[in-house]
Amino acid sequence: MLTFKKTTLALALAGATLATAAHANEVEVLHWWTSGGEARAANVLKELMEAEGYGWQDFAVAGGGGETAMTVLKSRAMSGNPPSAAQIKGPEIQEWGELGLLGDLNEVADAESWDELLPEVVADIMRYDDQYVAVPVNVHRVNWLWANPAVLEAAGVEMPTTLDEFFAAGEAIREAGYVPLAHGGQAWQDATVFESVVLGGQGSEFYQQALVELDPEALGGEQMVAALEDFKRTRELMDEGMSGRDWNIATAMVIEGTAGMQLMGDWAKGEFTAAGLTAGEDYLCAAAPGTEDAFTFNIDSLAMFRVASDNEREAQQVLARLVLEPTFQEAFNLAKGSIPARPDLDMSEFDSCAQQSLADFQRTAEEGGLVPSMAHGMAVRADVQGAIFDVVTNYFNDANMPAEEAAQRMVRAAQAAAF
Ligand code: GAL
Repeated sequence: MLTFKKTTLALALAGATLATAAHANEVEVLHWWTSGGEARAANVLKELMEAEGYGWQDFAVAGGGGETAMTVLKSRAMSGNPPSAAQIKGPEIQEWGELGLLGDLNEVADAESWDELLPEVVADIMRYDDQYVAVPVNVHRVNWLWANPAVLEAAGVEMPTTLDEFFAAGEAIREAGYVPLAHGGQAWQDATVFESVVLGGQGSEFYQQALVELDPEALGGEQMVAALEDFKRTRELMDEGMSGRDWNIATAMVIEGTAGMQLMGDWAKGEFTAAGLTAGEDYLCAAAPGTEDAFTFNIDSLAMFRVASDNEREAQQVLARLVLEPTFQEAFNLAKGSIPARPDLDMSEFDSCAQQSLADFQRTAEEGGLVPSMAHGMAVRADVQGAIFDVVTNYFNDANMPAEEAAQRMVRAAQAAAF
């Protein structure tokens, strides 16, 4: 993940003029929405901007989870030439804010009453130093299980609701001749499966202590060891070809019926939708096994860079306004698989998975169980996240590393990154 020495970047930026590559009345927007479903979703914003008379310079950097996009963004910022807006999420917004690089959106936020419009958990992430510097586009849920119903039927199993049922279903699917769990061996995808398994086996309080608060006793304790062992077992359900595979290719295996299931956030639903499939009929969604009472949230947001020209600043404000308008929220999120960032919209056009997502978001916000996704940059800062990713992936791919050792490494990763 993105880690940069603040001093290095601050020095590089000292005296740099805040010019961006965008021209007047134009926004350049960095994002990593390049899969079929994601590109359809991103296009909604481009078209809305153009309809308002503004140009859209697309700065798409491929790579699920956004690691490559963040590296590219860092180098553009270091050369004093950041885009007008970039998909920056969670605590990383604070890191860019601390560098003094973000412009504020207070004008549009006041005019559109964002304080009243947005749930506090969402609004909080968008502010740096009490000023709005980013606008939320959606709420993704990470702890989902997707399945092909024909494959489940051929294997004689139902959608699993506990980890035990999940492993048993996986075996039956394999015996029926399919890949049980579609996966791509990339660090962020490993971490996505890992956090859902931690949540499913150990519950949201433990998840919060270990992966959000980085409590060394939780990170290095027995529950983490048990979670790591469960996580390693998921590997037995994956196929030989998983190394380096993109997440949407793994989703395609479920769509095509070569694989039975996938553990992935609901951007996977964007792929099912783009393929013309219907939720509850052609594909199934359910909370990841054992996580019915939890919701790992992943909020995509566009942060605005400080710009010198008034025209470009105006274009940024228009972009931010459009993002929270009902037209965009509905069209984008229908294509993306997520739910709207504002809770007051008519959801009748949304499918059953999205309806469930919204209900579970609200229920877990009230009753507990709503936790930020570590794998998707919502829980900890980028350096800690990167260090945890390394441990998770190394352990996953090393047949000889005991879970106890991985848990100890996890403790050290959280500590080392803190200094
Ligand atoms: C997530 C991002 C989603 C989706 C996914 C796959 O981190 O929040 O919008 O794009 O990565 O790239």
